[in-house]
Amino acid sequence: MVKISYIVHDGTRFEVKAENGSTVMENAIRNAVPGVEAECGGACACATCHVYIEEKWIEKIGQADPMEEDMLDFAYAVQRSSRLSCQIKVTDEMDGLVVHVPERQA
Ligand code: FES
Repeated sequence: MVKISYIVHDGTRFEVKAENGSTVMENAIRNAVPGVEAECGGACACATCHVYIEEKWIEKIGQADPMEEDMLDFAYAVQRSSRLSCQIKVTDEMDGLVVHVPERQA
């Protein structure tokens, strides 16, 4: 189990315990984090699970693969730190991860 913090657009912080192998999106949905919609259920087909990875975590989380990159084109206000949270699998190395939820989804 690792701790993940979601900071939503109004600044509210949600700290959740996440199991290894689950995704950052699944933990947001399970804990009713506002702003993560995940309409496609994690199939990398909707871009409504878009989050921003906090700067110091970007390298550790890694880059989006080409399919995710293509889907990110449909996300709102994409930045260098943008990822689709359904494509990030939780590992021990992610303990303390902080992600920011955008103002709105696509
Ligand atoms: Fe649809 Fe992530 S849940 S792309």
